[in-house]
Amino acid sequence: MKDGADIVARDAAVFIHQDGSSPCIGALRAAKGLWIEDVDGRRYIDLHGNSCHHLGHAHPRIIAALKDQLDQLAFSPRRFANAPAAELAERLTARFRGGRSRLLLMPGGCEAIETAIRLARIATGRSGIIALEGSYHGHGMGSLALSSGRLDSRLGSQLTDIHHLTPYWDQAGGGAEAMIADLAACLAQNRGRIACLVAEPIRSNAHVPPSDLWTRCAGLCAEQGVKLIFDEIPSGLGKTGRFFAHEHFGVTPDMVVLGKALGGGVLPLAAVIADDRLNLAPELSVGHFTHEKNPLLARAALAMLDVIEDGSLVAAAEIRGQQLEKLLDGQTASGLFLRLRGLGLLRALAFEGAPLGEALLERTALAVGLSATAKDDFSIGVSLPLISSDEEIRIVAERLHQMAENLAFLQDAHASAQPRKAHRPNNGQDPHHT
Ligand SMILES: Cc1ncc(COP(=O)(O)O)c(C=O)c1O
Repeated sequence: MKDGADIVARDAAVFIHQDGSSPCIGALRAAKGLWIEDVDGRRYIDLHGNSCHHLGHAHPRIIAALKDQLDQLAFSPRRFANAPAAELAERLTARFRGGRSRLLLMPGGCEAIETAIRLARIATGRSGIIALEGSYHGHGMGSLALSSGRLDSRLGSQLTDIHHLTPYWDQAGGGAEAMIADLAACLAQNRGRIACLVAEPIRSNAHVPPSDLWTRCAGLCAEQGVKLIFDEIPSGLGKTGRFFAHEHFGVTPDMVVLGKALGGGVLPLAAVIADDRLNLAPELSVGHFTHEKNPLLARAALAMLDVIEDGSLVAAAEIRGQQLEKLLDGQTASGLFLRLRGLGLLRALAFEGAPLGEALLERTALAVGLSATAKDDFSIGVSLPLISSDEEIRIVAERLHQMAENLAFLQDAHASAQPRKAHRPNNGQDPHHT
């Protein structure tokens, strides 16, 4: 087999280059459980998994269910119902609003967010949308505009009539109180014009809002009939220690959007689950997708729900999250401060007190056998599967401590230009090279 550099070069020669993918950092040959392995034999614990790996990679029950489904019914044209899609709809809606809900399925999160917006617009007869500045809800011409009021102008015109709030995680901007004040002002200035507020109840970069933020926002929205749409594409399905992330906050949105792990970490699938009262326009195609009721995708999701339920994995996420807190929060031997944020197994770890930067953080993580993405200049994501064992949690914590030591070493070297012998980074070679 050719080595990784060769595949990376072939990839870079034919894919359109873009931020976060091509040119790639390596080439994989295997992904199983928490682990990914590159074609040169390096093994990493996957702390990213594109937020799809709730069950780890290639869970045997997902793979077995898909093989079985391929032999039964591999595709179903949309005009026909099929048993896996119907069962999935029943099981997901049963968990939301006690079954007083309906859903639509689609292949990707971006399409799901845009479908939810269409439902809100139909229900309210209004077009305005409120979103959080610096959020992310997908890359469509509609969903991308939710991210920011300051998109690169080369991308051209996007969905309009979007109002951006100061996000609760922006402490310098005033945090949660500024967000509430912005929301109240926006609703007052645009009375009768706003269809919905779209937000992640817990941001995927693991910023958890104050416990009363969403009830206060929901109250303000309800006064004007503005629909509350929670994007739980990375945070739903048990990741935070609750089946739906919004369950932490005692508020029920009008719609919740799931995606990523819904396809069992193997196939693309997303869902908009909506209050039954939003079933208002049967004469329109509100979420019209070729693979909408694909039985293979639905079967992956059913197997995923089975694994979560049989293994009590929602509760496991909470327990493992608490283990991580014990192992990671606080000052390290080298003097750096580790601060773990997030809930359950949707976490990020800040290395405080070092001049870092995203590229350095990601390189240093790889060097200790961790594949992680930077969430800002000081922190990396620590997104772990719900199936993580005690031993795996311990190994992850050990590697993160090693990473902190290495960062402290780099910091010292940078400060004094006098490299210290201890804690030298291992440059991605042994002991993680197999
Ligand atoms: C919070 C959030 N919403 C929406 C999306 C878009 O999902 P997809 O990439 O499936 O379109 C993402 C993807 O990263 C996400 O993190």
